[in-house]
Amino acid sequence: MKTLQTIYNKNGLLWHVIARDPEKAPVLIDTNEYVIVSGNEAILLDPGGMEIFPVVFSALSAGMDPRKIKYIFSSHQDPDIISSLQLWLEIDRDIRCYTSWLWAGFIPHFGGHQDTFVKIPDEGMIIKVGGREFQAIAAHYLHSSGNFHFYDPEAEILFSGDVGAALLPPEMQGMFVEDFMAHIKHAELFHRRWMPSNRAKNDWIARMRQLKIRLMCPQHGAIYREDDVKRFLDWFEALEVGSAVR
Ligand SMILES: [Fe+2]
Ligand SMILES: [Fe+2]
Repeated sequence: MKTLQTIYNKNGLLWHVIARDPEKAPVLIDTNEYVIVSGNEAILLDPGGMEIFPVVFSALSAGMDPRKIKYIFSSHQDPDIISSLQLWLEIDRDIRCYTSWLWAGFIPHFGGHQDTFVKIPDEGMIIKVGGREFQAIAAHYLHSSGNFHFYDPEAEILFSGDVGAALLPPEMQGMFVEDFMAHIKHAELFHRRWMPSNRAKNDWIARMRQLKIRLMCPQHGAIYREDDVKRFLDWFEALEVGSAVR
């Protein structure tokens, strides 16, 4: 079972997380879904796979009106990110899906019609939700070749997709990273294998160091707070990625 929990709530701006599910089928990788509510509109970040849609939808509906969702942000093309698209469009066919122009011909294999997709150019773009401006931030090759993160300058929260992902054991189910060194052991192999480019990684780190990030929210595993965000950037900088194949 998943539940919707609120991680930010100020001045009509809310961040909710539908965090990982200890009861999900072991065959599925566990995921976090995030919902940002700004006034009367909401955007869903990486809504997840079709297999978990019923669990995500019931958790979301228990905590908010799902009809507020006007937009979906798809960081990249993977099935654990966006294969539920058609099911969300059955709730509201007018939902718009923001994703890289690179995937705009591929993701429609999961659903969508002529008006569904808003193609994000390589340099990123502003995404407006409920009168606020959010940023789709370029994160190409981290891990997908057309990949974006989602930044909220008001809440100072970064949704970082698969960056920061950790495959945590059952005894580490907390929402937030508590012990960075214990946590990051479960992230190392994932990053070495899934992230192909040191050059792309280091460019991203330099740009992230310019932003104020109070919370860094990955699509798998626990959320990094304050100093743990800085620790993650330092750790990631030192890690040689694209190196896990013998
Ligand atoms: Fe992925
Ligand atoms: Fe993922």
